[in-house]
Amino acid sequence: MKIAIVGLGYVGLPLSLQFTRSGASVLGLDIDAAKVASLNQGRSYIKHIESSAIAEAVKSGSFAASTDFERIQEVEAVIICVPTPLNKNREPDISYIIDTGLCIAPHLQKGMLVSLESTTYPGTTAEDLRAVLESGSGLKAGVDFHLAFSPEREDPGNAQSKVEIIPKVIGGYTPACLERARAVYGLAIKTIVPVSSCRVAEATKLLENIFRSVNIALVNELKVVYSAMGIDVWEVINAAKTKPFGFMAFYPGPGLGGHCIPIDPFYLTWKAREYSQNTRFIELAGEINTAMPMHVVNRTAEALNARRKAVNGSRVLVAGLAYKPNVDDERESPSYTLMNLLKERGAEPAYHDPYVPVIRPTREHPHWAGMRSVNWDRPTVEGFDAVIIATNHQAVNYQELADWSPCIVDTRNAMAPIKTKPGQVWKA
Ligand SMILES: NC(=O)c1ccc[n+]([C@@H]2O[C@H](COP(=O)([O-])OP(=O)(O)OC[C@H]3O[C@@H](n4cnc5c(N)ncnc54)[C@H](O)[C@@H]3O)[C@@H](O)[C@H]2O)c1
Repeated sequence: MKIAIVGLGYVGLPLSLQFTRSGASVLGLDIDAAKVASLNQGRSYIKHIESSAIAEAVKSGSFAASTDFERIQEVEAVIICVPTPLNKNREPDISYIIDTGLCIAPHLQKGMLVSLESTTYPGTTAEDLRAVLESGSGLKAGVDFHLAFSPEREDPGNAQSKVEIIPKVIGGYTPACLERARAVYGLAIKTIVPVSSCRVAEATKLLENIFRSVNIALVNELKVVYSAMGIDVWEVINAAKTKPFGFMAFYPGPGLGGHCIPIDPFYLTWKAREYSQNTRFIELAGEINTAMPMHVVNRTAEALNARRKAVNGSRVLVAGLAYKPNVDDERESPSYTLMNLLKERGAEPAYHDPYVPVIRPTREHPHWAGMRSVNWDRPTVEGFDAVIIATNHQAVNYQELADWSPCIVDTRNAMAPIKTKPGQVWKA
């Protein structure tokens, strides 16, 4: 089977490799010519994806990347894994999906499957994407070509999480579309979970991410409340999670990050308005999670104050720019917000992240572009008045941090197993 995967990022690239391992031939399509060139030379641009896996697939002829959408004519199925961000008014931006639909439509052939994986609101596949595909091709979904939605479930940085063994939810535009999608995905993925429609599959993905957002907000709120009572929320969570039923541990932090949890819930909020429905849990969770960086900066101010220092003029190191441990993905990372807030208060922020040596230009934080990760050595770390642990990468030596920094603000409980001095660590 020959399939095209459109969008070769954190989702599309591992999926491409899984299909090649399962005997399919994959044409990877992306609008980023630099990524395409890198992949065709067998080079990965994502830390947790090995270059050797890509090189092997390219060498065997089972994978090739391209920017040429005309080549869609060669394949039996097209899987779309493009970004779904929010615009500057925090509303869904499905323009990447629509643009991809416009690129695919002229080359769509009878009998092909088009499956969308990008997280989005219910209705995107069967209404928005279908309209673009049908008008650009003259073909009809469910009659001339198959259409489906199958949400990606990717857990970057988790070595146990393999595309092949993560059950895959699929909804088809018609029962025949579902059957075709089952057959295509069944080639590469062990467990398929069919649902009754594309909308149900879209809603399933949103539930999964909203569940995380709301539960993270809950522990973030409890962190602040318990801290005021002199209770350590980490100790509480560790005790609670010994309950063998009815409890699932979530952990507090400096705020939400990544391409999913801070964004996806608002896809539902936006769509719900069309049905005159409110999404109060989602909004409240967003409010609490968004307030976390300010909480961390306020704790940093307290910690500095205890050392007779003002935030204004202090040098503060943010340890960890990536939004979660052991990955190089810093999209939507709360570390950026921490640096912004510190700078607004007159501090001089810097960052250390072994996986993000330099900050790329981004739409949201253009002013930090070009900033480099500082070295991890005694003279450099000692030169900062405070260090905020924003992300607990395993590659960072926290014993060294305890030896070098007099003032540590820990948002991840990273210092718990380390011997520290009284008053040295401030949990936030
Ligand atoms: N990263 C995750 O852990 C994760 C997990 C689950 C779901 N998702 C969802 O999967 C989708 C993709 O996320 P991602 O993290 O892989 O994004 P990404 O930014 O890593 O990759 C997207 C790729 O699509 C390419 N692209 C953009 N527009 C294109 C177009 N018109 N045609 C072809 N290529 C185009 C970009 O160049 C990029 O390489 C999003 O909807 C996201 O919410 C992501």
